[in-house]
Amino acid sequence: MSEIPSQPPILQAKDLKHSFGEGEARSTVLQEISLELKAGETCSIIGPSGCGKSTLLYLLGLLDKPDSGEIKINQRLVSEASEMERTAIRNELLGFVFQFHFLIRELTALENVSLPLRKAGDSKKDATLRAEKLLVDLDLVDKRHRLANKLSGGEQQRVAIARALATSPAIVLADEPTGNLDARNSNKVFDLLVQSAREEGSSIILVTHNPDLAERADRCLPMLDGRFEE
Ligand SMILES: Nc1ncnc2c1ncn2[C@@H]1O[C@H](COP(=O)(O)OP(=O)(O)OP(=O)(O)O)[C@@H](O)[C@H]1O
Ligand SMILES: [Mg+2]
Repeated sequence: MSEIPSQPPILQAKDLKHSFGEGEARSTVLQEISLELKAGETCSIIGPSGCGKSTLLYLLGLLDKPDSGEIKINQRLVSEASEMERTAIRNELLGFVFQFHFLIRELTALENVSLPLRKAGDSKKDATLRAEKLLVDLDLVDKRHRLANKLSGGEQQRVAIARALATSPAIVLADEPTGNLDARNSNKVFDLLVQSAREEGSSIILVTHNPDLAERADRCLPMLDGRFEE
């Protein structure tokens, strides 16, 4: 009987190292981090403040370059690609929920969620329909015409999640996406992320301080001082 070939990982990171600062002030934040993520897999990263979780997500999201090591997305070596290629990959394959959510304050909730779809070439009507569906799923549909800066912290966080999911990205990188939410909404948002991953075949890397949520991922990677613990 022939074996079904296993799918190659959607994301591979090998021996990533990263430092900040110059000369005496230089400090190593990531030391030899390696990680493989399968298509459709949900992986959580948990660890104390300052251990390098956001730094790692920035590297994996091609927002910063590692000092050394390799990142492959869809088998393609992207850590050394040009800025133009990296931007194209970000727009096409990645969705971000930032720790400090970075919505566009002067746009409404609906406009914020529609924006990545409009950038990807969707018509205004299609983008609006998709954005409205996500806002319904996140219990925000009645606030869709409110400006982002007139929403509560937790509401803004849910808009940021809807925005990250809008284009059905291959990989969602979520940094503390439930940090501002109460227990009920944390669970709801987590379920939505996982459910959307299943539906769309997306993979998720989720940074969280919440051990209950971390354990609900397919895999949990505890991190300490710039490394994954054994
Ligand atoms: N741009 C920067 N310049 C200098 N140092 C930085 C920079 N960004 C992060 N650091 C330092 O790198 C270390 C790791 O930061 P990082 O934000 O990755 O931590 P974290 O694990 O995400 O923490 P938290 O759980 O508090 O969000 C910290 O000591 C931080 O001060
Ligand atoms: Mg962080």
